[in-house]
Amino acid sequence: MTVPTAIPECTPDLLRTLFLFESLSDERLEYLCQHGQVVRVEPGWLYREGDDATCFYVLLDGSLVMSRKVVDDEVEVNRTSFRGSYVGAWNAYLGDLVPQVYDQSVRVTEITDFFELDAAVLRDVMVEWFPMAQHLLSGLFQGFTNRQRTISQRERLLALGSLSAGLTHELNNPAAAAVRATSTLQQRVSKMREKLAALAAGHLDEAALQTLIKFQDDAAQRVAAAPKLTALESSDREDELADWLADHGVGHAYEVAPTFVAAGLDVDWLELVANAAPADSLGGAIHWLYYTVDTELLMKEITDSTSRISTLVDAAKQYSQMDRSPFQTVDLHQLLDSTLVMLARKIPPGVKVVKHYDESLPLVPSYAAELNQVWTNLIDNAVQAMGEEGTLTISTHSDGEYATVKVNDTGPGIPDDIKDRVFEPFFTTKPIGYGTGLGLDIAWRIVVNKHRGYLKVKSEPGSTTFIVRLPVEGPQIGETA
Ligand SMILES: Nc1ncnc2c1ncn2[C@@H]1O[C@H](COP(=O)(O)OP(=O)(O)OP(=O)(O)O)[C@@H](O)[C@H]1O
Ligand SMILES: [Mg+2]
Repeated sequence: MTVPTAIPECTPDLLRTLFLFESLSDERLEYLCQHGQVVRVEPGWLYREGDDATCFYVLLDGSLVMSRKVVDDEVEVNRTSFRGSYVGAWNAYLGDLVPQVYDQSVRVTEITDFFELDAAVLRDVMVEWFPMAQHLLSGLFQGFTNRQRTISQRERLLALGSLSAGLTHELNNPAAAAVRATSTLQQRVSKMREKLAALAAGHLDEAALQTLIKFQDDAAQRVAAAPKLTALESSDREDELADWLADHGVGHAYEVAPTFVAAGLDVDWLELVANAAPADSLGGAIHWLYYTVDTELLMKEITDSTSRISTLVDAAKQYSQMDRSPFQTVDLHQLLDSTLVMLARKIPPGVKVVKHYDESLPLVPSYAAELNQVWTNLIDNAVQAMGEEGTLTISTHSDGEYATVKVNDTGPGIPDDIKDRVFEPFFTTKPIGYGTGLGLDIAWRIVVNKHRGYLKVKSEPGSTTFIVRLPVEGPQIGETA
């Protein structure tokens, strides 16, 4: 700007050049000049977000930058040198409907002139000069906030509902397995004690007992390294083992055999036991080893189940971002994986999940829990579109500027005539009670409004892809959470 020598005087002619005031009468412009003034501001803060909103400013000459605080960062919202731009206490006319504080910070980047008006004066002239407009604006504002409130409550409920339903179901299996295994374990341990007492009371000498104890250790170790067998392999080996046991006069052969097979023990190993134990103690020795092996298998099951539980709890934490700050730099793959864990229950067995992750995908500054809502809605839609069978493909890649996540399904596709409407709030093709039509609206608001990214859809029968692109630098123009 060319710095004027003196601060311009406020005159009706000056104010009339500003679009905001252009249609006001001379008398009213005169009134504004009497109650307001032209001020000159040095580069620096004009006001800070959260301060009492005391003044309304109209830009006459210079440049300003608006910003909002997002966690610890000041995020630029707008930058302008457009004459007539207005900032400050512009919603003074809403009175008590909103807290009268500045909802953003403004700084000027060069010497800048404003027309400045007291918030109270602005409110009075709005009420007095434009009573009908003032009522309409208040109504618009209230309608908008009510809608936002209803939608975000619904959004939170939906999130909570899908989180807790998914989690409860997923936790149920390993928790029940651990409980079952623990109670069986108690019985097995007491049986093992009984068998050992019977063995010790029999004809075993000390050396034979020592050897059997070595076998017990060996069996326990083999359990940990037992190979995974197919159903057919298992049943072949069980038959072979049961025959051997029956031939050697060991009772309950068909109960004992599956446990030995599950532990990775075979006929050769049993032969070694048979050589070490006297013939009349073989049955007792084998049963004692059977209880040992069973105990180990049960303990392994408990370890597996409990670690599955903690994996799920980790996924739930990751999904909900419970103890994290809302805005942070995150690995999108972790978010996608935790969402898939949470949604596992909703994905039918006939739907194959394929992941094509680009390992070089950078971390992205984002509202992580909200992004999980985006994946949830996209995956939910994809799964519902496919029904019982299909392939869900989640792929990622980065071009340096944007991180892209694609969710593809092999469902029937979105008909052309509704393609433009799917992102509208409350648009749904699902029967009443099945869809709120908010899934994609929520996703849109999170990706586009909140992250300044893109959300697009490409669809044809047999292939529908929702494409989310997030700026790798994070949302440059952001809103507070
Ligand atoms: N992957 C998809 N394949 C086919 N149609 C889709 C797909 N995703 C969305 N749609 C269409 O877009 C509509 C709107 O989706 P949106 O997620 O917003 O709402 P909804 O799924 O109907 O309800 P809600 O998400 O609340 O359960 C759906 O009803 C459906 O017609
Ligand atoms: Mg949906």
